[in-house]
Amino acid sequence: MHFWKMIAVENLKKSYEGVEALKGISFNIREGEFFGLLGPNGAGKTTTISIMSTIVAPDSGKVSIGGKDIATNAMDCKRMIGVVPQEIALYNDLCAFDNLMFWGGLYDVPKAELKKRIQETLELFGLSDRQHDKVKTYSGGMKRRINIASALLHKPKVLFMDEPTVGIDPQSRNLIFEVVQKLHREGMTIVYTTHYMEEAERFCDRIGIIDKGEIIAQGTLDELKSSSKMKECISISFADGSSEDHHTSNVRSDLSKIVLRYNEAGRDIAHIDIKKVNLETIFLSLTGKQLRD
Ligand SMILES: Nc1ncnc2c1ncn2[C@@H]1O[C@H](COP(=O)(O)OP(=O)(O)O)[C@@H](O)[C@H]1O
Ligand SMILES: [Mg+2]
Repeated sequence: MHFWKMIAVENLKKSYEGVEALKGISFNIREGEFFGLLGPNGAGKTTTISIMSTIVAPDSGKVSIGGKDIATNAMDCKRMIGVVPQEIALYNDLCAFDNLMFWGGLYDVPKAELKKRIQETLELFGLSDRQHDKVKTYSGGMKRRINIASALLHKPKVLFMDEPTVGIDPQSRNLIFEVVQKLHREGMTIVYTTHYMEEAERFCDRIGIIDKGEIIAQGTLDELKSSSKMKECISISFADGSSEDHHTSNVRSDLSKIVLRYNEAGRDIAHIDIKKVNLETIFLSLTGKQLRD
């Protein structure tokens, strides 16, 4: 079966004790797409992912996965998805292997097959040699790797990851990036939340920018850039201490013209600074605030 729309999210609303966490969130995700949900702390990323993975019920709105409504086909949907929650859930007094046997055992994978998949997955995450050590002896990055591994054992079509690289060492982060990109190349549909714009820019086919419970923009990085009111900026500082800003939609063609004009006017350029449009400046232009504040 091939679904153009692997995931459809329609007008999700959710309040917690009077706080409107989601004010009507909608987006669609294609099969095999790497979709990023980018937004600051408190934007509603975890609430959205928790509803999509059937952990939290919305007040209103609809989610379907693989053409099935999660409200009426929860079991079918759960089999299709793997969930990597923001808070790591592992048994600290069990070793990695036993943790994976437990989490994998929640799905109907035959035991021999599960053991085989656990070994393959431990290998993938570089933890084969530590598999019999208790998880409480692991670093944060190692726990995170096991946490992701546990979401993959039933071979889900769709993977939800909620800020999977927060607070871990660079080595684990790079390994997670490699694994996630491999899964994407192999055709998995991935929903990835982050407040790091670099991650969204680097990996995502499409991005939904979320703030205060609303999707305020969505599209490919190029679409977001071209629809942004914020233009690229060439800042020229002169030897006499003065400076001038030139807003442009095309640095490449305008830079040489600007420099030439100043040369002809006999003005000495000391420094040129080019500010590109990126997700940070797009977020700033949409909300008037920094992504990380
Ligand atoms: N269980 C809860 N009880 C009360 N408020 C909550 C709960 N979960 C989330 N919220 C609130 O809902 C909003 C969205 O939170 P969340 O979805 O966790 O955002 P994010 O994951 O983007 O940081 C925040 O204002 C948060 O304080
Ligand atoms: Mg969160």
